[in-house]
Amino acid sequence: MAQKEKAILAYSGGLDTSVCIKWLQEKYDLDVIAVVGDVGQEHSGLEAVKAKALATGAVECLVVDMRETFAAEYLSCAMAANAMYENKYPLVSALSRPLIVKHLVDAAHTYGAKYIAHGCTGKGNDQVRFEASILMLDPSLEIIAPVRDWDLGCRADEMAWAEAHGISVPTTQASPYSIDDNLWGRAIECGVLEDPWAEPPADIYTMTTDPMQAPDEPTYVEVSFEAGIPCALDGKAMSFLDIVYAMNDIAGSNGFGRIDMVENRLVGVKSRECYEAPGALALIQAHKALEDLTLERGVLHYKLGIEQTWAEQVYNGLWFSPLKEALDAFLANTQQCVTGTVKLKLYKGNCTVVGRKSDYSLYNYELATYDATDQFDHQAAKGFIDLHVLTCKEWAKNRLDMGVDLHQFKAVASTADEFTATNSAVVEEAEAVMKAADKVKA
Ligand code: ARG
Repeated sequence: MAQKEKAILAYSGGLDTSVCIKWLQEKYDLDVIAVVGDVGQEHSGLEAVKAKALATGAVECLVVDMRETFAAEYLSCAMAANAMYENKYPLVSALSRPLIVKHLVDAAHTYGAKYIAHGCTGKGNDQVRFEASILMLDPSLEIIAPVRDWDLGCRADEMAWAEAHGISVPTTQASPYSIDDNLWGRAIECGVLEDPWAEPPADIYTMTTDPMQAPDEPTYVEVSFEAGIPCALDGKAMSFLDIVYAMNDIAGSNGFGRIDMVENRLVGVKSRECYEAPGALALIQAHKALEDLTLERGVLHYKLGIEQTWAEQVYNGLWFSPLKEALDAFLANTQQCVTGTVKLKLYKGNCTVVGRKSDYSLYNYELATYDATDQFDHQAAKGFIDLHVLTCKEWAKNRLDMGVDLHQFKAVASTADEFTATNSAVVEEAEAVMKAADKVKA
């Protein structure tokens, strides 16, 4: 008998990816090799997940501990970028996808598989991240997205199909939420959360304590960084990976790290998403505070724009893009002196930076102080201001000579009516100018 073609499947152990195994066998007549990535997600044993993959019909199941690499090669870049999509979401899922894909592609090469399959729907960002990464790492591989393609209807139909195919389906009431989690945090969507007005129910959170139930005393923690990477907690040297785990506990138990947002997916829909990312948010906050102390102003300001572009690239599935690589080079360069310690105070849902220090500190007491040791040249400020404002002063003078009263210029309307009135006046004026210009032309 001729050997079957092989598919590598990104497997989680859940219903969707279990159905994928049977689906790939039945519809495509493929041998399925499941890959389970440990990226620090909550689980009750990945060996059981492997057993389920094999029981469901996978010919092989690889369980790969990706946590060290995730921290060292992925989260470290996210730290340097203070990565937050839309200034709020620390890219939890977006960061794990390219790493998982790397292992899928490796497995495809090891096993001589022609196909890679994933269990993402056709509505989310994750399908884009999986496929964009696969296409960049090995464009010769073919992608199968069973969940996007199948016509199994609703969840109940899918469960019926699964049962009929001997797949063990959850007997307990399935969670109404769609969850994805890893070391860097947890994403919760669907169910009642689809109403953006509905307050998130308490039961969606597992990494964070309700702030109202959090301890009545604050917790202080000192986070040390070496070239931008967390390297110690309270003076005790630890791996970045262990620090992430510890900060998830410390910040999470103080009720810090919850996010409730409406986010713009790449595929065009706005979706209501809830997250908890206690460690990530606390570490990014501490990292920013250390950058405030150690980065020269020009670099710090320029970096803000780079950070936003970096987050967008990664959110949009372009981890392996040349732009993202070039931005990483910039970011790495900025981190050389981001070494020092930040003191955080965690209390009932809040995380506050209450101290920072560094051998590379650019904070100069003699320049900053208002006391007698002040070294700042106050007189130099006068000439500085004259030159600083020179071009604008010339412009303003010109406007005044033309009789334009700068105070009359309404940049901001305080009511909607005023806004419309101001704008229609501007449009009318523009039209008049255009008409006049046409006349001149004619
Ligand atoms: N909206 C987030 C993102 O695009 C989280 C996605 C989580 N995935 C899931 N299957 N729940 O990164």
